[in-house]
Amino acid sequence: MSTSPSAVPVRAMLVLGTRPEAIKLAPVARAMAAVSQFEPVVVTTGQHREMLHQMLGLLGVDARISLDVMRSRQQLSDLTARLVGELGEVIRLERPDLVVVQGDTTTALAGALAAFYEKIPVAHVEAGLRTGVMDNPFPEELNRSLIGRMARWHFAPTPRAARHLTDEGVPKEQVFVTGNTVIDNLLWVLAEGAGTSAFRTPAKRILVTLHRRENQGERMRGMGRALRRLAGRGDVEILLPLHKSPAVREVLLPELDGHEGIALVEPLGYLDFAATLAECDLVLTDSGGIQEEAPSLSKPALVLRTTTERPEAVEAGAARLIGTDPEAIVDAAAELLDDAERYRRMAGAGNPFGDGRAAGRVLAQLAEDFAADVPVGATALGPYSTA
Ligand code: UD1
Ligand code: UDP
Repeated sequence: MSTSPSAVPVRAMLVLGTRPEAIKLAPVARAMAAVSQFEPVVVTTGQHREMLHQMLGLLGVDARISLDVMRSRQQLSDLTARLVGELGEVIRLERPDLVVVQGDTTTALAGALAAFYEKIPVAHVEAGLRTGVMDNPFPEELNRSLIGRMARWHFAPTPRAARHLTDEGVPKEQVFVTGNTVIDNLLWVLAEGAGTSAFRTPAKRILVTLHRRENQGERMRGMGRALRRLAGRGDVEILLPLHKSPAVREVLLPELDGHEGIALVEPLGYLDFAATLAECDLVLTDSGGIQEEAPSLSKPALVLRTTTERPEAVEAGAARLIGTDPEAIVDAAAELLDDAERYRRMAGAGNPFGDGRAAGRVLAQLAEDFAADVPVGATALGPYSTA
């Protein structure tokens, strides 16, 4: 495709379907809506329902088109098929100049694939994260690798992520280190300052989230046992906003509901979650986004997974990769709760994920490329033959 004349706004279709995509694309959508060079067209797929909808208004994102693909406990293959079909139709109707996807969800993969089929160039926000283990996290590692083959712009949050892409053969002219937009959003939300912490007692506060597919079942049951043992110390309040996934709830509810020292709550809106994170002492999580947010607020994070695509936090000393063994989880948490010096070192390690200006860098690069007299229709593999 050819460039848009400079007076005509670039029509950017932002495709998002889950809670973290809403959070991480919100700064891009807000920034585009505030300038005349861009016309953001936000499409929500509804891969998540309650957890997505509770975010959009809070984050100042107006969806122009809303799909409704969520079915309880649906198979990944069914979800992917439905998404590619429905997004293909939306792209054909709207004919955007580019499609923007974020991260590694099924929505992001399907958005990139549908755009590729329609020969619309793809911008990938949070590109280049890798564990190097194709099925861990499952299916996200494959999803992001595949998006890396299809995208024209790769907005990497860190130099390491950028290196992964160039090592895989993506031309370095298509890779841009921007920082992670999650930091933009966190700073924006904290400046709004309207959230309320969900912690209720003055005990040591542990914030926990668990949802990853590869942890579901027995491993997650073991993590539940670890949380019960930690609560047994008697000096902690464990707060766990429960993911809506039935596969998570069927394990954690029987294990933890009604247990003293443990509060299970519904997913928190982003403003309240940010306030809760800001008030906690320690984070135990298998979430990607929370691994990035915790160091920004000087909160030590114990990552309850066997791999992480965010080793920057571990290397900085702000996070530790603990694995999923219950004993190891209890020991690592106790070390931090009981050793003030160790705690102080982790809390002070700093945030390696950006300065809160990532969305501005994304927009600047896109604006430059669309204003220049060069074709922008290309993938990581080379130009389209019709470009
Ligand atoms: C998805 C992403 C994962 C991301 C996570 C963020 C994929 C493959 N996985 O995982 O990368 O970390 O979102 O939370 O894209 N459900 C509801 N209401 C909701 C949300 C989910 O009822 O608001 C239930 C539905 O039964 C749904 C199930 O949870 O089928 C699982 O949701 P799904 O989006 O398939 O996967 P997640 O595990 O949430
Ligand atoms: N989050 C939230 N409310 C909650 C739990 C998490 O707003 O109750 C936010 C959190 O701040 C982070 C994002 O959701 O930005 C992470 O989403 P999730 O863990 O579902 O997905 P992942 O980041 O692992 O893909």
